[in-house]
Amino acid sequence: MTTPANPAALSQDALKTLVGQAALDYVLPGSIVGVGTGSTVNKFIDALASIKDRIQGAVSSSEASTARLRALGIPVLDASQVTSLPVYIDGADEIDLRGYMIKGGGAALTREKIVAALAERFICIVDASKQVQTLGAFPLPVEVIPMATAQIARRFAQLGGQARLRLKDGQPLVTDNGQHILDVTGLAINDPLGFESQVNQWPGLVTVGVFAHQKASLCLMGTASGVRRLEY
Ligand code: 5RP
Repeated sequence: MTTPANPAALSQDALKTLVGQAALDYVLPGSIVGVGTGSTVNKFIDALASIKDRIQGAVSSSEASTARLRALGIPVLDASQVTSLPVYIDGADEIDLRGYMIKGGGAALTREKIVAALAERFICIVDASKQVQTLGAFPLPVEVIPMATAQIARRFAQLGGQARLRLKDGQPLVTDNGQHILDVTGLAINDPLGFESQVNQWPGLVTVGVFAHQKASLCLMGTASGVRRLEY
C-alpha cells in the first residue's frame, strides 16, 4: 500500500492522480504501453510523460487519449502494428470484488476491448467510489450500429433494462467508430461472464460495456488510506 501524507484529505481528483502515478510502477522499460481512456487515465498519461524517454510508445484506445499522448510527446502506434503488450492500463465505471468491470462511460469501450485483448495484463486504475458488490448501478454503455438501436433496446427491456440513446449537444453521440451508444439502467449483473456472452450475440450490437472475459488482473484503487493493490 502506498500511503500519501494525509490521504483522508484527498479529493476524488487527487485519488485519480495518485493511482495514475502508481501505475507507472507497472510500465516496463523499453515497452509499448496499452493506454485506456477517461479522466483517471489522463492522470496516468500525464505521469507517463515523465518517463517517455524510457518507453517505445503507446497503443491508445481513443482519439482523445491519442491526442493527449501525442501532445505530451509520447509516440502512438496503431494497434495493428503490435502483436502483444505487457500491460493495458485503464479506468472503469464500476469494478466488482472479482475484477469484473463496467466500462464505456467515455464511449471508448470497443477500442478499449481491442487494445486490452493485446495485453498480457489489464491493470485497472480507479478511486474507491468505483468498487461495487454487483455490477449495474452505473448505466451500462453499449455501442450499437444505429439501425439496430430500437431492436437492441427491446431486447434489454426483456431483461428488465431501460436503454437510452446517449446524446451530445442534443444529437446522438457518435463514437470514434461512427456508431451510437445506448446506456442501460435497471440491470443487476450477477453473472458478468454469462451476461457478456449472451448480449454479445445480438445482431447490431458492436460491444457491451461489461468487461468480464477481459477482466482486470490487478486493480490500483485510490482510497482514504492510500493505493490498495487488489489482485484477481
Ligand atoms: C471510457 C471508460 C473509462 O475508463 C471509464 O468511463 C472511467 O472513466 P473515469 O476515469 O473518467 O471515471 O471506460 O470509455
